[in-house]
Amino acid sequence: RLAAMGSAASPPRALDAATQEDLKRVSAHRAVDMVESGMTLGLGTGSTAAHALDRLGDLLRTGALRAVAGVPTSLKTEAHAARVGIPMLALADAAEIHLSIDGADEVDPDLNLVKGRGGSLLREKMIEGAGARFVVIVDESKLVPRLGCTGAVPVEVVPFGSAYTLGLIRKVFDKLPGFHARLRTVKSKASDRQEELFLTDNGNHIVEMFFEDGIHGNLRDISDSLLRITGVVEHGMFLGMATKVIVAKKDGTVAVLS
Ligand code: 5RP
Repeated sequence: RLAAMGSAASPPRALDAATQEDLKRVSAHRAVDMVESGMTLGLGTGSTAAHALDRLGDLLRTGALRAVAGVPTSLKTEAHAARVGIPMLALADAAEIHLSIDGADEVDPDLNLVKGRGGSLLREKMIEGAGARFVVIVDESKLVPRLGCTGAVPVEVVPFGSAYTLGLIRKVFDKLPGFHARLRTVKSKASDRQEELFLTDNGNHIVEMFFEDGIHGNLRDISDSLLRITGVVEHGMFLGMATKVIVAKKDGTVAVLS
C-alpha cells in the first residue's frame, strides 16, 4: 500500500480511492522528501510538478525546510511558486542547482523522456540540464515502450518563418512510418471559434511531431537532425537527462527507477 510507503513528510493516502491526481501527488511528495534546507531547486511545470510546488510551500511555511530557492521553468510555475511562498532565483543568478523536480509526458525504458506538451520544454531543458540531479515525477500512465507512443513530440521553433521550418521538419522525417507534423494552435482569446498559433513563454511557436506507434529510429540521430534545422530552437526529447524517475502506480507501489 502507498500508506506503507508514506514518510513523516508525506502522509499516506488511501489506495483504493487513488485517482491519477492522487498518484501524481504521491510521486511529487516522494521527490520533495529528497529536498534539504539550503538547496536551490529547478521547479518544473505541469499538473504533477504543481503538487511538488504546493508541498514545498507547505514545508517552507511550517519551517520544516529553510533557505530553499527555486528556479522556475515557466511563467506559470513562477506565479505558482510566488503564491505558495517559494523564494526564486533567475537561472543566471543560481550559483548551483542541486535538484530539479518535474513531470514528463512519456518515459521510455532507458528513462528518456518526452516533455513539453505543456509548452515549457526550452526553459525546462535549460534548467534541468544545468542542475546536478533531475528527478522526474510521474504516474504509471506515462511509462511507454518507445517515445512518441502517446502523442506529440514538441519542437520549439522561432516564430519567423515557422511554417517554413515546419516544411523543413516534414522533409527530414517524411520517410518515417506514419510521420506527420503541424504547428500547435490554441483557441483564440478573442473568439472561441478561432484558432491561433500557440506562443511559448519565449515568444516562440511549437511544431508537434507525431510518429505512428512511437519512434523506432535512433533518438540521438533524430535529435541531431532536428537541431541542425535552422529555425529549430530545441525539442522535447530529454535524452539521458533524468537521474531518477519516481513512478506512483495504481496498485499502491512507488517505483524509483534510475
Ligand atoms: C510541461 C511539461 C510537463 O512536465 C509535462 O507536460 C507533464 O505534465 P503533467 O504533469 O501535467 O502531466 O513538460 O512543458
